[in-house]
Amino acid sequence: MDNYRTASQHPHYDVIIIGAGASGLYCALTAGRRGRRVLVLDHANKAGKKILMSGGGRCNFTNYFVAPEHFIGSNPHFCKSALSRYPSWEFIGMVEQHKIPYHEREHGQLFCDDSAQDILTMLLDECAAVGVQVRLNTQIDSVQAIENDKKARFQLSTTKALSKKDKQEQKDMANQTNLPQTGYRCESLVVATGGLSIPTMGASGLGYALAQQFNHTLIQTDASLVPFTFTDKIGELIRALAGISIPVIASNERISFKLPLLFTHRGLSGPSMLQLSNYWHIGETISINLLPDIDMTALLLAHKKSHPRQLIRTVLADYTDSGDDSNKLPKKLLVALQTHLWDDIKQTELANIKDERLIELGETLNGWQLKPSGTEGYRTAEVTRGGIKTAEVSSKTMQSNYQDGLYFIGEVLDVTGWLGGYNFQWAWASGFVCGEVV
Ligand code: FDA
Repeated sequence: MDNYRTASQHPHYDVIIIGAGASGLYCALTAGRRGRRVLVLDHANKAGKKILMSGGGRCNFTNYFVAPEHFIGSNPHFCKSALSRYPSWEFIGMVEQHKIPYHEREHGQLFCDDSAQDILTMLLDECAAVGVQVRLNTQIDSVQAIENDKKARFQLSTTKALSKKDKQEQKDMANQTNLPQTGYRCESLVVATGGLSIPTMGASGLGYALAQQFNHTLIQTDASLVPFTFTDKIGELIRALAGISIPVIASNERISFKLPLLFTHRGLSGPSMLQLSNYWHIGETISINLLPDIDMTALLLAHKKSHPRQLIRTVLADYTDSGDDSNKLPKKLLVALQTHLWDDIKQTELANIKDERLIELGETLNGWQLKPSGTEGYRTAEVTRGGIKTAEVSSKTMQSNYQDGLYFIGEVLDVTGWLGGYNFQWAWASGFVCGEVV
């Protein structure tokens, strides 16, 4: 166990990386390959927890089609340099070298065949091969810039991170201040602490606090790639349909995604909703085209002419199915929509329904306007939108504009990727360009 040492005895590293997640480990192995002495510190009891839980346990580790358009942030140009210097095939090459079986799913997404553990093992093996030290269960108490040391620019003070059991024991003890403290010094300090999503997996605001300590600006953070929640009647209707999944076009004024929608007990989820959440702000309306391949207004008006005695549900019966056909809606959904949208005219023949009403109904089926009350928040969000303002960080090296030797990589920065392996690609790319210079 490390004991307290005086400042001059602080163990010295070329590079200390705070955060043994995706970007931190990639940066560590890159710097280690250059012969740098690297220490990775993490308060969690395990490295790469988010890697392990990603992609439903199979880790969507990158995407064949990575472009800056797949990322959002206050400076859309920031990600370009790192992404072009570290394209996805570089990571795929490493995966292949390690003989990790993988497969492509739709939209170029790459997943492990077996387990996300394969990716984590690969990163840890690569780190170990170049002498990177990973120290877990380590709480960072303070970080200070130092000036009178030729080799070191930063001094860190750490204590052992306590488990829940340890914390209780500590509370029970009369003397609560006697935890062994360790200090480290380093030339380069890399902050790779990720975002705020899933606090139970080790997420914390330390990265943001350190950025502020060194005068950086934060762009407001929010849960993203996250399901929407609804209250009132719409909430009830959605919850009653839990389990139904249909292909839709989900959109707002900024963007549109043709992807599946999933009704859940908490609201609306599925890839279309997660993607749209990256572009959504509280109070805004979203639009869902339930039958993306059919012009429902034209269809209803045509049927009024050709079959004036028909009811709306008879017209829609041809577009009802329990399968995964984008031209059809599950019966249960149609029944619920009828109750919600055209209950008053459900027994009325088409001939007796005004054109305006049919147009309104057609437009609703092709663009259901919904106002989410919110999202499920950081508890289930895959990422955190916002973060450290990228205008104050070098896009080539990830170094702070304000403090020599201080770097920020991965999700802690104001760079958020789409669903589909883009967030890991950003972690690898930003970790790589930083690891090349620290
Ligand atoms: P990351 O979160 O990986 O690592 C941060 C590290 O810092 C953690 O180890 C943490 O313990 C440590 N840390 C935090 N605070 C600390 C402190 N105070 N002291 C010390 N250490 C501290 N992306 C993708 O591309 N494909 C996918 O399939 C998925 N799937 C997915 C599923 C789920 C459920 C989630 C929550 C997220 C995803 N993601 C994803 C997103 C992806 O996991 C995420 O963008 C990257 O892990 C970000 O990498 P970072 O290195 O920035 O942070």
